[in-house]
Amino acid sequence: MALISTDILRAKDLLDQGKNVAIPTETVYGLAGNIFNEKAIKNIFELKKRPLFNPLIVHIHDRKQLENIAIEIPENAHKLAATFWPGSLTLILKKKEGIPDIITANKDTVGIRMPNHDATLELLKSLDYPLAAPSANPYTQISPTTAQHVATYFEDGLEMVLDGGPCTNGIESTIVGFENEQVVIYRLGAIAVEEIEKIVGPVIIKNNHKKGAAIAPGMVKKHYAPRTKIILVNDIDTSLLQYSSKQIGLLLHNENHSSYKVAHVEYLSRIGDFKESAANLYAALHKLDQMNLDIIIAQKFKNTDLGNSINDRLSRATQ
Ligand code: TXA
Ligand code: MG
Repeated sequence: MALISTDILRAKDLLDQGKNVAIPTETVYGLAGNIFNEKAIKNIFELKKRPLFNPLIVHIHDRKQLENIAIEIPENAHKLAATFWPGSLTLILKKKEGIPDIITANKDTVGIRMPNHDATLELLKSLDYPLAAPSANPYTQISPTTAQHVATYFEDGLEMVLDGGPCTNGIESTIVGFENEQVVIYRLGAIAVEEIEKIVGPVIIKNNHKKGAAIAPGMVKKHYAPRTKIILVNDIDTSLLQYSSKQIGLLLHNENHSSYKVAHVEYLSRIGDFKESAANLYAALHKLDQMNLDIIIAQKFKNTDLGNSINDRLSRATQ
């Protein structure tokens, strides 16, 4: 079992030795390694059972590091970084020579982000290299938002989880790239599209995986999935009738619902707040998945702001 600890120096030591450490961020926990240590990076793919064609995000602590990692950085990228970093925004940029191909899955672009978490920023500052870190979950499973989630996933092969408490945003970063001058969103995430558009004007959203045409290769349809069957619905009552003979877990927006006679009800927010709901989403799915239910019925959110991102994750979980 991995050690769960708040010891940043110990995390640094392990990373300096070429080992992997799970790190907290404000979105989800990441499974980190030195971007220049091939063994450490290969081990990330192996631990996660992630295919090598799916590139990793490079984590930095200072905007100046951008110039060491990327070239031809568009003005809008600088604007977005200045507005949202440290924070839940990943920029896809043309990569600079010297960034290992294994990180970028042989693409000529690289994903970069500065996470907004004090312990991880302190750790990054203490290192001589950036950290590559995908979400610290086995491929296609629910992302971890607590140190305990990570430790449970990786009982063998991971020495340490740096404990930074529960993730405050709770869903992954929004991934933004550039096609000519156009700003494109490849993954909906913890920063709403509306927030991005306030800074750079209208964007294009390309977050759906089409065969052979996935720009962010991780955007496979099935993702973030619990083992329990899950459906996403607008109308709870109709679904309850349909599955009345089953052990049902309900995942609802807020507490303003009449009491349903089901095995378990989980609320994402007391008052239907989108940010609070996003923060609680994966922990709720982890919890429901451990209850031996026949089915999880999740209530669809309104498709605005973070509701959009939450619906995206829930619909991938249903595949
Ligand atoms: O919030 C987050 O972004 C978390 C925390 C740990 O930082 N990380 C995360 O990493 O979600 P991961 O690997 O689970 O998802 C990264 C996504 C994948 O879908 C990957 O395909 C895409 O980013 N990606 C990475 N580099 C890319 C690139 N050069 N071009 C296109 N997509 C890229
Ligand atoms: Mg992931």
